[in-house]
Amino acid sequence: MKYAIIEAEIIDWLKSYEGERFHAIISDPPYALISIAKRFGPGQAEAQEGEDGRFSRLGKGFMGQIWDGFDTLEDYQKWVSEWAKLMIEKVLYPGAVCLFFGGTRTWHHLAVGLENGGFEIYDTLIYLYGSGFPKSHSISMGIDKAAGAEREVIGTRDAPGYAESNVKHGDQDRSKLEFPEYSKDAVTPDADTWQGYGTALKPSWEPIILCRAPRKGQTFASLAVEFGSGALNIDGGRVDYQSSSDRASATPQGECTSKEMAAIGAEPDAGRELERVKFERPEQKGRWPSNLLLSHHDDCQLLGDIITPGRVINRWKEGMKPFGNAAGEPFESEQMPPETIERWACVAECPVRQLDDQAGIRSSGSGVIRRKTGKGHQGSVFGAESRPEGTESATYGDTGHVSRFYYCGKASRREKDAGLETFFWKRVDTGYERVTETEWLSLEKKKRAKGCIHPTVKPLSLIQYLSTLVLPPELEDRERRIFIPFSGSGSEIIGSLKAGWDVAVGVEAEAQYNEIATARILHNLGMFGVKVDI
Ligand SMILES: C[S@@+](CC[C@H](N)C(=O)[O-])C[C@H]1O[C@@H](n2cnc3c(N)ncnc32)[C@H](O)[C@@H]1O
Repeated sequence: MKYAIIEAEIIDWLKSYEGERFHAIISDPPYALISIAKRFGPGQAEAQEGEDGRFSRLGKGFMGQIWDGFDTLEDYQKWVSEWAKLMIEKVLYPGAVCLFFGGTRTWHHLAVGLENGGFEIYDTLIYLYGSGFPKSHSISMGIDKAAGAEREVIGTRDAPGYAESNVKHGDQDRSKLEFPEYSKDAVTPDADTWQGYGTALKPSWEPIILCRAPRKGQTFASLAVEFGSGALNIDGGRVDYQSSSDRASATPQGECTSKEMAAIGAEPDAGRELERVKFERPEQKGRWPSNLLLSHHDDCQLLGDIITPGRVINRWKEGMKPFGNAAGEPFESEQMPPETIERWACVAECPVRQLDDQAGIRSSGSGVIRRKTGKGHQGSVFGAESRPEGTESATYGDTGHVSRFYYCGKASRREKDAGLETFFWKRVDTGYERVTETEWLSLEKKKRAKGCIHPTVKPLSLIQYLSTLVLPPELEDRERRIFIPFSGSGSEIIGSLKAGWDVAVGVEAEAQYNEIATARILHNLGMFGVKVDI
């Protein structure tokens, strides 16, 4: 596993790059969240209420990051097109499959920018996590403030996590990290009317744009053979079955759809004749990867694993019996091995739980529900009960329903900080300055930070999964190379190398983030991660 981190501005670097090409990209570029401040920012009516805090931070981009700020969304889109075009021209193999994270408010500009730069957009994945915090502005409080009606101060609240420099705006000193907590009771009648109205929803998902470098008239087959590019690794991205009953429900035995009839060469309405054709459904390695990725809510708790006894699967000895007349036919039973299943205690906002509840399937349970076969029934569409009355079998005793989608947790504080135990920071006007532990200990609490100071760190398991999806098979004549523009704290480098990429190359403008990335890579990959020059 080789990696390189290049400290450079992306467009400058792309212009000068003349090296070997890459098979794929995974990238988390800036989202241009400045747009909200530009559109509703200083000089316009709503700016007045936006200047004090949230909106002023957004005025510099996401969480005050200068690198996330653009004058207008049009500028952002043009900037995206510029690097997208250069990536296609200088860095990627034809047909290279690329994944770009976006922000829910601005990803359409990212998508159009990529498209204008030459990429073919062909899907958008949704990473559903359900645990963001709403950045909503209270209309009622705004009305009172505009009317000069002071609300009672009932305490103070901290705004943790923001550097002093990030909450400063222009000439005004917004450096306080402690804010007054105002009463929720409206003062003016208008404010009372607008109680409970706000400006934003709770963020619960992230878009990930799936696109491809132009194929230059080549077929997918020729791209694969000539360059090792252009394809999705469907089998590598399959979502494991959670249990034998989950596997059985995804690949039902004893059922036959018109699609399978075609597969075995039968006429679509061959009907009862079909039972004479021997047909076995191939064993699948897991569910087909979906464009929906799930995460448990931060507050959910993994309680541990439960072991469920494996299900008994019965198969007719002589092919499928899809249209009845199966009673009495010889069958053989296979005892599936026990399975280990994660048990979660989920909070109400958890998307996994919400999907489960809506699907009407048990979200938790003591394990296996046993049932005994009844007499069966004759002449049904999908076959009569073939097992002797009273045969015991196990069904739905697990949480297999969430297995329809890949899921992983958001990056925990521990994951972000792993490898950064000696990273001590002092908050300064321009951001952070690395200091010794002794100096750090002498600082006021509000002036110091520790570990990972990057504000947008992606979960390693999510990146590992996504980069598996774009990983080609091992290639005889060349290494599999993934390009990671805007590599930040190194999450995409770590995740893609863990997925099996031979070479991962990141480009990141900020020296401090590169220092962090190097330490995180060392921690996560140890001696398996070999730093190279490219
Ligand atoms: C959204 S962050 C990526 C964070 C990454 N997902 C992680 O887990 O650490 C985007 C990164 O792009 C970098 N960046 C922004 N503009 C850049 C440019 N023009 N050239 C190179 N890097 C840039 C920023 O410094 C920032 O670290």
